[in-house]
Amino acid sequence: MKKEWQFSYEDFDSWKELSEEDQLLVQKAFSICEDAYAPYSEFKVGASMKMSDGQIICGSNQENVAFPSGMCAERVALFYAGSNFPDLEVLTLCIVAKGPFTSIDKILSPCGGCRQVILQSEARQKNKMRVILVSQNDYTLVLDSAKDLVPFAFI
Ligand code: THU
Repeated sequence: MKKEWQFSYEDFDSWKELSEEDQLLVQKAFSICEDAYAPYSEFKVGASMKMSDGQIICGSNQENVAFPSGMCAERVALFYAGSNFPDLEVLTLCIVAKGPFTSIDKILSPCGGCRQVILQSEARQKNKMRVILVSQNDYTLVLDSAKDLVPFAFI
């Protein structure tokens, strides 16, 4: 029997249409993105997370000459939070990127490995993790739950 998988998200022409709180999160992600270490791909990615105690934790991608040794921005931020604040929840995760690696109108979307990690971080906490994805042309997607990123997740 043919079935369909459904998920919902909001979209905005620009992240500047988001609430002030979300806009601040986007700005923090862009700010950390500047200092990403991405000499090989030249694709700088920034992740910011609004935590349940109100603080914002950020991370950027860190590349390495031995390619698999590098790490994506989302995982840098999530693993830092998991290490230092294991009892805090991530209320909202925001991801932005800059660089010629992808065309400007391509929707920014986390890689498969990051989706798996994001999903498990959400599963560990009581509340849903919102996800804000800002493409290079400012087009923005907002998901209510990280779960919507992966159908038939291994979790
Ligand atoms: N990257 C991230 O930081 N997050 C993702 O979800 C996808 C890819 C990084 C990894 C690498 O440093 C660069 O972007 C190009 O793949």
